[in-house]
Amino acid sequence: MSTKLADRLSVVVPSATLAINARAQELRAQGVDIISFGAGEPDFDTPSNIREAGVAAIEAGKTRYTAVSGVAELRAAIAERSTRERGVPATAANVVVTVGAKGALFNLALALFEPGDEVIIPAPYWVSYPEQVRLVGATPVFIPSTLERGWKLDPADLARALTPKTKAVVLCSPSNPTGAAYGPAELEAIAAVLRAHDCWIVLDEIYGSLVYDGFEQRSLVSVAPDLAPRAVIIDGVSKTYAMTGWRVGWSIAPVALSKAMDMVQSQGATSTATPSQWAALEALRSPALEFEQMRSLFQLRRDRLVEGLRNIPGVRCGTPEGAFYAFCDIGEWIGRRTPDGAVLNDDAAVAAWLLDKAHVAVVPGAAFGAPGHMRLSYAVSVENIDKALARIGDAVALLE
Ligand SMILES: Cc1ncc(COP(=O)(O)O)c(C=O)c1O
Repeated sequence: MSTKLADRLSVVVPSATLAINARAQELRAQGVDIISFGAGEPDFDTPSNIREAGVAAIEAGKTRYTAVSGVAELRAAIAERSTRERGVPATAANVVVTVGAKGALFNLALALFEPGDEVIIPAPYWVSYPEQVRLVGATPVFIPSTLERGWKLDPADLARALTPKTKAVVLCSPSNPTGAAYGPAELEAIAAVLRAHDCWIVLDEIYGSLVYDGFEQRSLVSVAPDLAPRAVIIDGVSKTYAMTGWRVGWSIAPVALSKAMDMVQSQGATSTATPSQWAALEALRSPALEFEQMRSLFQLRRDRLVEGLRNIPGVRCGTPEGAFYAFCDIGEWIGRRTPDGAVLNDDAAVAAWLLDKAHVAVVPGAAFGAPGHMRLSYAVSVENIDKALARIGDAVALLE
């Protein structure tokens, strides 16, 4: 039997974040005390009322297939919440409940992109955007940004990157990996460019509730409702409610595209897990209090981590508006020599060295299209943040 895999896999790289987690777990299994900033998920448990709703759904026999696009009550609740928060009317017909937000993005890629299409992705980017685009034979087009620009897309760069082949532009706010979130004026400037170009706009707002210092989180469709007919909002419960393992996300899109994504999902996942959908409905109905406690703890950790990182020689780090990531320039460490005589040639070498010597796991920036940087997820206790900062500082002090 031939073992040849499909050619489409030759252009795809496996998730680097998952690889770092795997190596950290391996070391932990050997008894090493690893502090991991690698995870893209909250370290909190799913709140008890949500867990109980999942159990109750199972006990009540809600264990069969649902409609492909999800249970009606959940779709209605998602539409109602989106209308309320984004100020752009949505109904259940606009909503497809998916296997996590990643599933929504994959449905979209399969429904919309094909060879010859370009998809604009601002860098640094979340690892799965380019890989999903490549998997379906389309071409990712990256627009780099800088720490000085707060890691935000420059509208002039966007205008230059748009071509007749541009099928979609992806905007993730707040961003993984940088935590950067766009304010209303910044969104309006991007909308003004997009208005002049007929393409889809993919708005990944999975971190939309996790913003700090009173930042006013807005969706591009709230600022520019005229663009809603060609916008696809990606959202879900994974990050906001600490529900990564439940696998519930959704897309909110014009009805014709939602029907196409429903068809894609009907031949792939069928639907996401039924008890998880009922738990997600409980999440959307949850009182804000528990979430607010989680959010303010993230803010405390962000402040602690960012301040500590800035005090380590060779690190440059902005203040992220949202999500739970700090994204730092570590260019000064690259090319330097460790006490063992090894040269840290790039950010991957830095990450491997920090893991082995400082027992701290970070993700190299190259994975996100920004070599010379590292991402730290602050889904880590304040105590461990302090411990890890001290370990990184000690290790870096030995670099020649
Ligand atoms: C920007 C972004 N979008 C989507 C996802 C996928 O979320 P989910 O776990 O709901 O599939 C992630 C998860 O890391 C993310 O960071």
